[in-house]
Amino acid sequence: MTIGFAIFGCGRIGRMHADVVAQNPHARVVWTYDVHQPSAEAVAQKHGAKAAPTVDEALGDPEVRAVLIASSTDTHVDLLTRSVKAGKAVLCEKPIDLDIARVDACWAEIGPLEPVIQLGFNRRFDPSFRAVRQGIRQGEIGKVELVVITSRDPGPPPAAYIQVSGGLFRDMMIHDFDLARFLLGEEITQVSAMASNLVDPEIGRLGDIDTAMVTMKARSGALVHINNSRRAVYGYDQRIEAFGEKGMLRCDNKRATTILRYGSETTAARDPLLNFFIERYADAYRQEIDAFIDCVQNGSTPSVGFADGRQALVLANAAYESLHTGRAVEVG
Ligand SMILES: NC(=O)c1ccc[n+]([C@@H]2O[C@H](COP(=O)([O-])OP(=O)(O)OC[C@H]3O[C@@H](n4cnc5c(N)ncnc54)[C@H](O)[C@@H]3O)[C@@H](O)[C@H]2O)c1
Repeated sequence: MTIGFAIFGCGRIGRMHADVVAQNPHARVVWTYDVHQPSAEAVAQKHGAKAAPTVDEALGDPEVRAVLIASSTDTHVDLLTRSVKAGKAVLCEKPIDLDIARVDACWAEIGPLEPVIQLGFNRRFDPSFRAVRQGIRQGEIGKVELVVITSRDPGPPPAAYIQVSGGLFRDMMIHDFDLARFLLGEEITQVSAMASNLVDPEIGRLGDIDTAMVTMKARSGALVHINNSRRAVYGYDQRIEAFGEKGMLRCDNKRATTILRYGSETTAARDPLLNFFIERYADAYRQEIDAFIDCVQNGSTPSVGFADGRQALVLANAAYESLHTGRAVEVG
C-alpha cells in the first residue's frame, strides 16, 4: 500500500526530502505545509500534492500515514507532538529541540502513545559510514581504540541563521555526536571541549564559536575526537577514521568522479569536493527515507529514534558545559 506523506516545512531540506519521497515507489506526497505559503505551493505543485492551509487539515486526512518534519528547529516539538497524537509515523529533522527540558516534556506527552519516530541523522545511512560501523561490528579492527571525525563546512552560514541555530555544538556537531555513538555502538561517558571564533567575527559577536575540537571517552575506554570548522576553503570536508588493535577503517571525501588529471602545472589533480550536504549525502538522504518508509510499511521500529536525538543533545550540552568550565564533563 502506498504511504501518503505530509511534508511540514518546505525550505532547503524539506524540498529535497519531498523529491526523495516522490521517487520512492511505495510513497507519495499528499500534502505540504509551510508558514510561507508559496514554498508549500511550489513543492505541492511539483509533486501533484495539495498545499494545506493549516497543519490540522493535513493531519486530519486518513490518507496521510507519515509526516516529515523539515521546518525550523523551534517548531519541531509542536509539530511532532501534534503528528503523533494524530496517529502518524514521523520522520523529524535534527535537532528535536535546543532545550533538553522541552525534549523531555515532549517525550512525557507522546512516549505513552508508543510512536513511530525516526530522527533525521542522515549520516547513519551513508553507505561508507555504514560500512565502517559494520566492519567494527564484525571485528575487522578488533577492539576500537580511537575514532576521529572531521566535519568542516565550506563556508559560514548567515548571521540570521547563527542567531537561531542554538550554536555550533547543537546545530552542526550534533551530527558528529550521533555518528560517534553509531560507529562505536556504545555510550559516551565523558566530554571535553575547546573552541574558538576564528572564521567570522560576526559569529563571535553573536556569542557563538566557529572552530571546535571535542574529545570524548566511551564506556569501553575508546577515545573519540571530533573537529568542526564553519569554513574550509577547499570545500565540504567529511572524513572518518576508526582505529583499533587489528587495524584501521577510514573514509575519505567523496568526489563526483575518480578521475585524476595531469598537466604542466598539476599532477594527479582530482575533482573538487562535493559542494555541501545535499550533494555529499544524497545517497544517505535517499536511504534514510527508504528505511523510514519500510518501517511504516512493516510496522518495525526505526533504527534511529527519539532517544538518539535526545542523547546527541545531551552530548552537545556537555560540550558547552566543558567549554565554559574548562573541565571534562561526565555524562550519565
Ligand atoms: N539532516 C540534515 O542534514 C539537515 C540539513 C539542513 C537542515 N536540517 C534541519 O532541517 C530543519 C530545516 O532546515 P532548513 O535548512 O531546510 O531551513 P530553511 O529555513 O531553509 O527551511 C525551513 C522552512 O520551515 C518553514 N517554517 C517555519 N516555521 C514553520 C512552521 N511552524 N510550520 C511549517 N513550516 C515552517 C520556513 O518557512 C522555511 O520554509 C532544521 O531543523 C535544520 O536543523 C537538517
